[in-house]
Amino acid sequence: MILAQISDLHIGYAGQGNVCKNAARLRMVGDALNDLKRPPDIVIATGDLVEHGVEWAYKDLKNVLKQIKAPVYLAFGNHDRRGPFTKIFPKFPYVDGFLQYTVEDHAVRIIVLDTLDENRHGGSFCQARADWLDARLAEQPNRPTVIAMHHPPIRTGIGWLTIKPGAKWVERLNGVLSRYDNVQHIFAGHIHRNIFKSFAGITISVSQAIAPQAKLDLADIDPEVPDGRSLLVDDLPGFCLHFWNGEDITTHSAQAPCGKSLLHYNKKYAYVVRHTLDLDK
Ligand SMILES: [Fe+2]
Ligand SMILES: [Fe+2]
Repeated sequence: MILAQISDLHIGYAGQGNVCKNAARLRMVGDALNDLKRPPDIVIATGDLVEHGVEWAYKDLKNVLKQIKAPVYLAFGNHDRRGPFTKIFPKFPYVDGFLQYTVEDHAVRIIVLDTLDENRHGGSFCQARADWLDARLAEQPNRPTVIAMHHPPIRTGIGWLTIKPGAKWVERLNGVLSRYDNVQHIFAGHIHRNIFKSFAGITISVSQAIAPQAKLDLADIDPEVPDGRSLLVDDLPGFCLHFWNGEDITTHSAQAPCGKSLLHYNKKYAYVVRHTLDLDK
């Protein structure tokens, strides 16, 4: 099973319709996913679907997503807004007002979490959401499961994009996940960079964004003293493929469009593949 992750689409940042660069960047990644020899079984967009949570932006998002051949599931980020989203995507399920649901029809069970607090940039995971997650995990405690969410519950080292030590919502999530041992991987977005770590004894990966990426710099940052550093850079849009081989998950990351091909698997170079597989006599 292949689960593709796209994140931080920020559709509508540069205006409505075709003028939005982030919509063009999403189309590039859509092309890359459609062109794979083995395309993904499912695509999950882990939040910040639009820049401003307004209906026209969600309409634009819906139009661009039609290009992707695999079924696409959506999660909320801090830029999203529940009311306008629901008008354009009425079929997505809410529980207690939160966009949390499971996807059951694949080899790996997928649990999508909602970490949105409409009044804040940072993550949120209240007791109602934690209770829902606990109940879902208790239903199938032995089935391989992955968790999709927007805000990664980790300290990233990037001073302006990280959690506060001891954040309550992180402790709450940790408390639930620590009670189960069947969660194979957590994948998140929000930071606009690839990051790899563990949380509650589970591997966690953060995807690059569809929108421009965050500049990698781990220098301390003083919120009172702007020092002129770069915060966002115009790197290519990125995505992840989470590959389930029947036993465990491997996460791959790429950008789109990819570079020019330098080596093809044709008759002339067939020996390369035989060599890498140690099939030479
Ligand atoms: Fe974002
Ligand atoms: Fe975000």
